[in-house]
Amino acid sequence: MNVIITGASKGIGKAIAEIFAANGHNLLLCSRGETALYKTMEELVTRFPSVSIKAKPFDLSIKEEAVAFGKWCLSVAVPDIVVNNAGLFEPGSVYNEPEGVLESQIATNLYSAYHVTRAVLPPMIQQKRGHIFNICSIASLHAYSNGGAYSISKFAMYGFSKNLREEMKPYGIKVTAVHPGAVMTDSWGNYDNSSKRIMEADDIAKMVFAASQLSVQACVEDIVIRPLLGDI
Ligand SMILES: NC(=O)c1ccc[n+]([C@@H]2O[C@H](COP(=O)([O-])OP(=O)(O)OC[C@H]3O[C@@H](n4cnc5c(N)ncnc54)[C@H](OP(=O)(O)O)[C@@H]3O)[C@@H](O)[C@H]2O)c1
Repeated sequence: MNVIITGASKGIGKAIAEIFAANGHNLLLCSRGETALYKTMEELVTRFPSVSIKAKPFDLSIKEEAVAFGKWCLSVAVPDIVVNNAGLFEPGSVYNEPEGVLESQIATNLYSAYHVTRAVLPPMIQQKRGHIFNICSIASLHAYSNGGAYSISKFAMYGFSKNLREEMKPYGIKVTAVHPGAVMTDSWGNYDNSSKRIMEADDIAKMVFAASQLSVQACVEDIVIRPLLGDI
């Protein structure tokens, strides 16, 4: 199977790339930063030489680049699985976050997925099969302090995902919204996770992979996964 993963150079996206490659799937990857992306690609090619792994840098917050990434993917293969993972966390509050944060958060966390998905869907619809994963967040489900524009963008991402789920039923395409709580990635900066308070990227990857393995007639609609001790 061919798997598109956005924001795959590190964090949750990279963990998802690893588990699909380890299970014999071909990968199409992107992120903005070329150096980290190609380093990840080379690492995966070395570890999993039997699968095809291609990567190209795009800034998916720019509509033209998101569409170009989709077209580049289609020039290689029609995807079976699309993981809309690219995203950034800008902490803040609606009442005093800097001007423009809402626009940039929506562009990165929502429009990226919207435009990539629209670019690759037509041949998937023709094939009448496929699976789209949208990496939302606990911040898609309820408000929390310091959520601000990020939480708004993630609520919108969930709205996108729920609408797509309904639309894709007749075409045999599954849509899954993934809602992780805190996961130890660069988003958490220098957070000391030595007490294992927050989750590992691999926890999310294992759930995504498991949801991709069900019978053709089963669709996991939502994956909600939190640290054992709850949100922080
Ligand atoms: N970590 C958490 O606690 C947590 C919890 C809930 C949900 N999430 C969600 O999970 C997803 C992954 O987060 P993460 O924690 O793994 O973050 P991360 O470690 O910072 O990785 C983010 C990835 O997205 C890429 N990216 C960012 N902006 C992009 C853009 N405009 N175009 C293309 N690629 C872009 C980054 O590479 P470049 O910077 O080089 O572009 C990187 O590969 C995000 O959607 C995030 O909101 C994370």
